[in-house]
Amino acid sequence: MDRAQAAKELERLAKLIAHHDYRYFTLANPEITDEQYDALRRQNQELEALFPDLRRLDSPSHRIGSPLSSAFDKVKHRKPLLSLDNVFNEKEFVDFGKKLRRFLKMPEDVLIPMVAEPKIDGLSASLHYQDGQFVLGATRGDGQEGENITANLRTVRDLPLRLSGDDVPKSLEIRGEVYMKIADFDALNASRLQQNEQPFANPRNAAAGSLRQLDSTITASRPIHFFAYYAQSLEGNLAQTQDELLQKLQTWGFVVNPYHKLCSTFDEMIQVYQTMQTVRETLPYEIDGLVYKVNDLRLQERLGVVGRAPRHSIAFKFAAQQAETVVDDIILQVGRTGVITPVAVLQPVIVGGVTVSRATLHNEEEIRRKDIRIKDSVIVQRAGDVIPQVVRVNTNKRPSNSQVYSFTENCPCCHSTLYQTPGQIAKRCLNGFGCEDQAIQRLIHFVSRDALNIDGLGEKHIARFYALNLITTPVDIFTLEERNKNFKEPLETWEGWGKQSAQNLWDAINKVRVLSLDKLIYALGIPQIGQTTAKLLAKHFTVFERFLETILNAHQNDAMVQKELMPIEGIGHGMARDIIDFFQQKHNVQMVEGLLKHITVLAYTVADNLPLSGKTIVFTGSLELISRSEAKAQAEKLGAKVGSAVSAQTTFVVAGKDAGQKLKAASALGVEVIDENAWQEMILATG
Ligand code: IVH
Repeated sequence: MDRAQAAKELERLAKLIAHHDYRYFTLANPEITDEQYDALRRQNQELEALFPDLRRLDSPSHRIGSPLSSAFDKVKHRKPLLSLDNVFNEKEFVDFGKKLRRFLKMPEDVLIPMVAEPKIDGLSASLHYQDGQFVLGATRGDGQEGENITANLRTVRDLPLRLSGDDVPKSLEIRGEVYMKIADFDALNASRLQQNEQPFANPRNAAAGSLRQLDSTITASRPIHFFAYYAQSLEGNLAQTQDELLQKLQTWGFVVNPYHKLCSTFDEMIQVYQTMQTVRETLPYEIDGLVYKVNDLRLQERLGVVGRAPRHSIAFKFAAQQAETVVDDIILQVGRTGVITPVAVLQPVIVGGVTVSRATLHNEEEIRRKDIRIKDSVIVQRAGDVIPQVVRVNTNKRPSNSQVYSFTENCPCCHSTLYQTPGQIAKRCLNGFGCEDQAIQRLIHFVSRDALNIDGLGEKHIARFYALNLITTPVDIFTLEERNKNFKEPLETWEGWGKQSAQNLWDAINKVRVLSLDKLIYALGIPQIGQTTAKLLAKHFTVFERFLETILNAHQNDAMVQKELMPIEGIGHGMARDIIDFFQQKHNVQMVEGLLKHITVLAYTVADNLPLSGKTIVFTGSLELISRSEAKAQAEKLGAKVGSAVSAQTTFVVAGKDAGQKLKAASALGVEVIDENAWQEMILATG
């Protein structure tokens, strides 16, 4: 056989084997015997051995895997991989529907059809296809950026390497869930135990562990599966509805969960939930609820995203699973922000398939309200990813000599006096970096993925550097390389470290000496200030100095800072309080000032190349075509800032019906005013 013939034959085999994979894995309806299938695979392998350079991207031999030499590359997602908001009961589910209608300005009685899909308890992945061939696969990562696990995903049998059908877009991204079946998980754990290896805690961890193998031959030996639930293409809309999209996915060769159902009425939606609660027990894989998605994809687009979750979908979780056990002890943990959390140490008990030996008791108030005592029998429950909780005490079994639990007045770690923020239940240790437990967690937070993201400085390293007094505050991270030069035993001589890994650490640290304002604010670990709020603050203050000055200068006068902070939408009273409290601690200010000697904080910039970038818009009066929230979302999506008061900085005002004061202000200031129709035309023209 010559090269040209071989290439042709390899193409034929790739297609043929892909077809039989589809019959076997997707349709569960094979056309040929296992022996015939193996023979095809062997033919392919032998031909590739003769012509190694002709091995195709979609060759079935990739299913066997191969080792990767170093770490995974990063992949930036074209659009973020979002998470979902949860509801736990019918009322919350109804509220979700109400919110949808309010946002879309639809009357309460309008039916919005939804597709209900089982929520698979696995991990999401993004797959790219070019001209119908699988070319790239990535983990979700932090939602913005994942890891390139293409070689590992190629080994997943029910993931097509080449797509079938004649309407496959040139470039296509598929999203879905990678998971492991319960029986396969049990078998895998049994064999791990036999080989003295640590078993996986649950099928999801087992699937994740299998995908994060540098050697994809290991992944290939693990039975993992994939359900597709979403697709998008640069070339335009793939479908009008989610239901249609799921059908398309199937015709292209993906496995779509067979229990998805299009529901038109509320009753149907609830019916599916109830049915699936029973079906769940019989499924070979774990699901932890249902995902409801607005079926109309145009409506989905209009609904957009809040924070990290889309408005158009919701996870309706199944009720928690419960079990009874005994509280052996109550211990106190010091959290990152100094909050003291009591934790019940339990006699291990299996709840919904997972062994539980600890449960959070939240705070002093909760222990008192539920009157939880050491040696009590308690009902614990586990709901999805949530930390197990104690529901109530079984007082029938209470020992006669038991005593009411009394809460400490001092930090269990550094023994400083605990403090209770007015209006908050939690007690807090204010010793910050002076308290070991807190310091370590704050450092871990500081370098974590969503904060500074310093590769190679994991929890274990932080703990070790801390124990040796080498890194006790974030400032020390940036001086470590210099100090290391004078160490008697420099890092590169430590056990587990070498020249290269030490250099990698210096590189990783030096890479983050220039960072964005929102990342820094988030990294500081101010109580209650998550990524979204950090962004809001960054957007408002633009440069770090302004942020710091405002809070420091006015800190004698809380009212002033509150006045400065609270008008920022999304910052409530409690958050403003926490920000002020944080900077009233001298050690925090010292730390921040120290940091600024080693880092450069970039001014916060909003994308400036969008159609309405740099423009400030004020909405006033009642809008009739869409809701105020949607109008605001439209404006922000196009780069505009939405103001609440008209000023000389306002670019224009959109006036709905019965506009009052703001309209007057606009004409007094000579600010342009347009009506709602003109606004919609502008959106159409720019969108
Ligand atoms: S939709 C746009 N559909 O649940 C929202 N997610 O809690 C995200 N998941 O990260 C995806 N089954 O890993 C969707 N049928 C399903 C799902 C599903 C499981 C996971 C997914 C996501 C997480 C959010």
